[in-house]
Amino acid sequence: MKVLVIGATGFIGREAVKELEIDAEIITASRSSSDYEVDIASPDSIKKLFEDVGKVDAVVCAAGGAKFKNVTEMTLEENQVAVDSKLLGQVNLVLLGQHYVNDGGSFTLITGVLMDDPLPKAASAAMANGGVRAFVKTAAIELPRGIRINNVSPTMIVEAKEKYGPLFQGFKPRDGNDVGLAYRKSVFGRQTGQTYEVY
Ligand SMILES: NC(=O)c1ccc[n+]([C@@H]2O[C@H](COP(=O)([O-])OP(=O)(O)OC[C@H]3O[C@@H](n4cnc5c(N)ncnc54)[C@H](OP(=O)(O)O)[C@@H]3O)[C@@H](O)[C@H]2O)c1
Repeated sequence: MKVLVIGATGFIGREAVKELEIDAEIITASRSSSDYEVDIASPDSIKKLFEDVGKVDAVVCAAGGAKFKNVTEMTLEENQVAVDSKLLGQVNLVLLGQHYVNDGGSFTLITGVLMDDPLPKAASAAMANGGVRAFVKTAAIELPRGIRINNVSPTMIVEAKEKYGPLFQGFKPRDGNDVGLAYRKSVFGRQTGQTYEVY
């Protein structure tokens, strides 16, 4: 099985790769330091990625940016980052990538706990997460050729505690491998339209 992992070099992407590479051939993509270069905020960049990589059995995304700022201070431009990257970036991966996914293949997108457990400064990220979750649930009933789609919604993982701990006050970090297993369930399982909460 050939799996394209976008954001493979990050905290979450590394956990997905560690788990999936046990049973699949992994192709990595991100803006730097991966097999292929892609910026998911750019539809042209996504198109080029799929043209270059060709057919795959699964597309896994662990990338998607957002600005963390209080809503009282956030500018429209700052909020647009989450729209262009985490929300539309992932939706566009599906719209453009569906033609490159083999029959019975899958998409697995990334969301996060912030859409269910509010934190200060997280409204923009939560907006993108909720949009992706709703898109996944609905796209699942339309994708052709047995192609499935799910999203993994982690809380902060242990491996990222030093970076995100100050933001996630009172949240119990989960082991990164639990997130890797959620990606495994999505890629190797048969479910579709699901949100795998690792809270
Ligand atoms: N870490 C956690 O505990 C946690 C918990 C819940 C949800 N999440 C979500 O998981 C996602 C990844 O988080 P992370 O902590 O793993 O972040 P990270 O460590 O910063 O890694 C992000 C990964 O995505 C790539 N990337 C970033 N922007 C990209 C773009 N526009 N196009 C293509 N690739 C891009 C990065 O590589 P390049 O910089 O080279 O492009 C890197 O490989 C985020 O959406 C985050 O909200 C994370």
